[in-house]
Amino acid sequence: MKTRTLTLLGLAMFTGMLAACGGGGGGGGGGRDDDTTQSTLDAQLRQVIAAEGLTGDPTTGRNLPSINDPLAQLGKLLFFSKSLSGDMDTACASCHHPALGGGDGLALPVGTGAIDPDVVGPGRNRADGLPNVGRHSQSVFNVGLYDTGLFWDSRVESIGKETGLNGTGSGIRTPETALHVADPLVTPGTSLVAAQARIPVAVPGEMLGSFMPGAAPEAIRQRLAERIGDYGAGAGEIPNNNWLAAFQTAFASAESAEQLITFENIALAIGEYQRSMIFVETPWKAYVQGDNSAISDSAKRGALLFYRDLNPGLACNQCHGGDFFTDERHAVTGFPQTGPGKGDGAAGDQDFGREQQTGNSADRFMFRTPTLLNLTVTGPYAHTGTYTLEDAAQHYFLPNDTFAGRFPGGSLCRVPQFAAHPDCANLYPNTVVNSAAARNAVTQQRLIDATLTFPDLSFSPPRDAPPLFDFLQTLTDPCTLNRACLAPWIPDPSEAPDGNQLNATDSSGSPL
Ligand code: HEC
Ligand code: HEC
Repeated sequence: MKTRTLTLLGLAMFTGMLAACGGGGGGGGGGRDDDTTQSTLDAQLRQVIAAEGLTGDPTTGRNLPSINDPLAQLGKLLFFSKSLSGDMDTACASCHHPALGGGDGLALPVGTGAIDPDVVGPGRNRADGLPNVGRHSQSVFNVGLYDTGLFWDSRVESIGKETGLNGTGSGIRTPETALHVADPLVTPGTSLVAAQARIPVAVPGEMLGSFMPGAAPEAIRQRLAERIGDYGAGAGEIPNNNWLAAFQTAFASAESAEQLITFENIALAIGEYQRSMIFVETPWKAYVQGDNSAISDSAKRGALLFYRDLNPGLACNQCHGGDFFTDERHAVTGFPQTGPGKGDGAAGDQDFGREQQTGNSADRFMFRTPTLLNLTVTGPYAHTGTYTLEDAAQHYFLPNDTFAGRFPGGSLCRVPQFAAHPDCANLYPNTVVNSAAARNAVTQQRLIDATLTFPDLSFSPPRDAPPLFDFLQTLTDPCTLNRACLAPWIPDPSEAPDGNQLNATDSSGSPL
């Protein structure tokens, strides 16, 4: 991890900024707060932007498909198809809907076995009222921009991590191979995103359900391809199956279902669809590219906090640096641990994060730094999804208070997903102890690297939190907030190649 030292220049700039803030926090109006402030702020921030080498555009030099490409169009239909789940009740979009920021809006996913499988987002439930996946569903927006690994623990990982290639350069490790060993079943040149699409279909809580219990993942994938392709053991499983025509169009080929509808081609198309979901036209980008009026003064103050070295700044860019707002590495940040967990610890409800992949206890509680683009729509936040955006920002300077505010006495009743659960006060009883262990790991880490942002900062949240929060809001592409703008990524019911398209609704029955 990059370490940073406090410079005298940084101090001088901060003094200027304090005067600009007038101690009043955030709003920026009245009195001596004004005129000179505006230009001083811009001058300071432009200096930071130049020093960081930002261009505002994380897509530069990348080869990304359009949603109008035939393969991305096929991928859209597959991404929304419940036919890819064992019991035909769950689609990728059940947990990654474009109208929900590319995620599911829940803290923890409700995958297979939902009471109403077509309800997606808040209100999607199983009979026991509990999630059946232990980590928060990440957004699929901009996943074509990652070069190192996917998932919170990067368990789908590029061997060479070449910049700009989204994993196509040198083979991909998956959970089915040892660390640093390319999965031989993933064809060379496959993107991280396409390789990832192989995984959820073979996970019982995500998509597999009760289908083919104990079968090898590759046998499951083969079987699902036969179902979609209407051949072999899957023949006749889907009534009114029109997938072959869709594949022939997408691949511009007259080949047979056996040749064309392989799981490799399914994953390729799903990958191209997701790689077309690029949402980077943010107010921050406009600002970086020269428009001083694109963001508010408060957001500019927040940006200075975000980028400046620790004390007086918050040095968030140590990890969330660059135009994609992530170093794509793993770090301990001590966000809460709740829910069913990932099998770690005595009770199995702990999550050791990256250590699960490396087996190295030095990696305990490390997670891959997520991008901060489109944060406004990708909530709730962090790997168990229990924090609001305000919580997540404040976590870095008031970790214990933020935790206690969200989980008073360890209760989950203030986490929206669990608020209506009759036993919300007593759910996941190890939340307090498991979360404290993760926060303690940060304290330990700070003894090794004192430049780590968190915790123990002498910041006064009333002054610092609102500007920081305003800055984070400028990282969202307005398209992600607009259903009409997102329409190209959501299939119309008339496009369905079979009867299993997920035409999702919210809990009141309105189409998403
Ligand atoms: C039951 C909910 C669920 C379903 C269904 C599901 N996912 Fe996910 N997805 C998740 C969760 C949870 C994570 C994070 C898991 C982890 O890190 O352990 C994730 C992670 C991802 C990521 C990684 C994003 C990143 O930033 O690294 C991609 C890409 C993705 N899913 C695509 C898909 C595709 C494609 C499908 C269908 C083949 C699918 N998902 C089905 C819940 C789901
Ligand atoms: C040491 C590296 C590091 C630093 C410094 C850091 N972060 Fe993070 N950030 C992470 C990691 C890793 C996660 C994911 C942790 C998890 O889910 O458990 C994360 C998650 C987040 C999230 C939640 C994103 C999501 O999609 O769920 C937000 C918001 C965030 N950070 C903002 C900030 C801000 C603001 C700062 C500065 C005050 C900051 N981060 C400093 C590494 C870092």
